[in-house]
Amino acid sequence: MSSGKPLLGLWLYRSEEDWSYKEDVPVPPAPKTEDQKPVVQIEKNTIIFTLKNQIGGLVRALQAFQDLGINIAHIESRSNLSEENQVDFMVDIECDKKKIEQLGRLLRREVQTMVIGTYGSDEKDIPPPTPLSAAASFDFDEMPWFPKKINDLDFAQNVLMYGSELDADHPGFKDPVYRKRREHFARIANNYKQGQPIPKVQYTDEETKTWGTVFRELHKLYLKHACKEYLENWPQLVKYCAYREDNIPQLQDLNMFLKRKTGFQIRPVAGYLSPRDFLSGLAFRLFHCTQYIRHSSDPFYTPEPDCCHELLGHMPLLANPSFAQFSQELGLASLGASDEDVDKLATLYFFTVEFGLCKQDGELRVYGAGLLSSVAELKHALECTDKIKRFDPELTCKQECIITAYQLAYWYTDSFEEAKEKMRDFAENIQRPFGIRYNPYTQSVEVLSNAQKITALVSELRGDLCIVNSALKKISARDSTLDVEGIAKLLQTGLHTGKKE
Ligand SMILES: [Fe+2]
Repeated sequence: MSSGKPLLGLWLYRSEEDWSYKEDVPVPPAPKTEDQKPVVQIEKNTIIFTLKNQIGGLVRALQAFQDLGINIAHIESRSNLSEENQVDFMVDIECDKKKIEQLGRLLRREVQTMVIGTYGSDEKDIPPPTPLSAAASFDFDEMPWFPKKINDLDFAQNVLMYGSELDADHPGFKDPVYRKRREHFARIANNYKQGQPIPKVQYTDEETKTWGTVFRELHKLYLKHACKEYLENWPQLVKYCAYREDNIPQLQDLNMFLKRKTGFQIRPVAGYLSPRDFLSGLAFRLFHCTQYIRHSSDPFYTPEPDCCHELLGHMPLLANPSFAQFSQELGLASLGASDEDVDKLATLYFFTVEFGLCKQDGELRVYGAGLLSSVAELKHALECTDKIKRFDPELTCKQECIITAYQLAYWYTDSFEEAKEKMRDFAENIQRPFGIRYNPYTQSVEVLSNAQKITALVSELRGDLCIVNSALKKISARDSTLDVEGIAKLLQTGLHTGKKE
């Protein structure tokens, strides 16, 4: 029997522990001598190396640090992506440039591969994005840390559940082959660095069969129940990403497809991410995506998101510009927000992106990925009309998210635009003493924390407004259907410092 349990794309679990992978230690200013000439500059660097397969290699490698008097701030190890028995080491150090060069020479004797880079706040080789204004930056002391540029997402990978470890009630818990397979997928995700191509996976016949079973059953329901934006993108996914019953699409193909369609990118993830980290990714138009598939014993049940859920539920809509923008705005609202506000945003994400419905041509259609990837709950949601309510962020954010059964309520809007407008109003009430804007050119977020930054942004926006103005004049002269007044009003109401009347 199909369990009908919802496929959860969002994870309202909390963990006490933070991943202390990287401390954002500010680089001290260059000390000056009496004649004001800078002296040796201490830099914060990260070295990632793989040892040669020799006994005592790690001891000798670490000895090199000691011999040079280099302070190790942090060290961790990870399984190597390509060779199962190899281990990568990542070491954060603080020393001057000359010692880095000496260290590189010493380590070369002991290591197979080595990368030395500045992963911290002092990136010398890659300049940081230019901020809008050189004015003093905001004091973030009291704020939760959040990524400022897309590469910072490497440090926002707090996997809370499953990963390569499975709970005793997981359908694959007693299957050693499945568990080994999950370890392989976890290795790919854990070794992934932002911007790398996503390794392609050779899925087994059993995995492809499971995919085919889910694909076949869900596909029958889409034409009747999926929203039009979902259906519009389906043929392109078939064409460009090989969406077929006998083929599990590759994340890298989807990565390239989405980049072209909406600028969204995909990043492999090993399991449930913390809500804060997941939402942070959306702020950068980055979607964390599982690559493994559910256990074959029950193709219609999974206790966690898997590739059936991600590929069939999420991908078609991430290729829609309006939906992509809605997802990103949810993410932007979460950056630097309090835990309480992140919880509310996670709940809103859950009841929209995962379980949302919309009215189209007088009928309720589904856009939530949790519904579009669960045969039983999709049918259930549409049959139980008394559970369906109009989306209202203030009410919806208080709704309980059910993990192991059907939801107690589902929420609908007339369009993504309506959901976006409502979310924007809601986000204005989030306690955050600055604004945040995403800069797609530098793939970074700009913190609007003072008058100079806002003025600089308005100056940039003016360029776009001039383009709109010029186009309006030209088109309105030959097309009387263009609603110039309506557009002008929209632009005016777009800038209001209080609530709409
Ligand atoms: Fe999801």
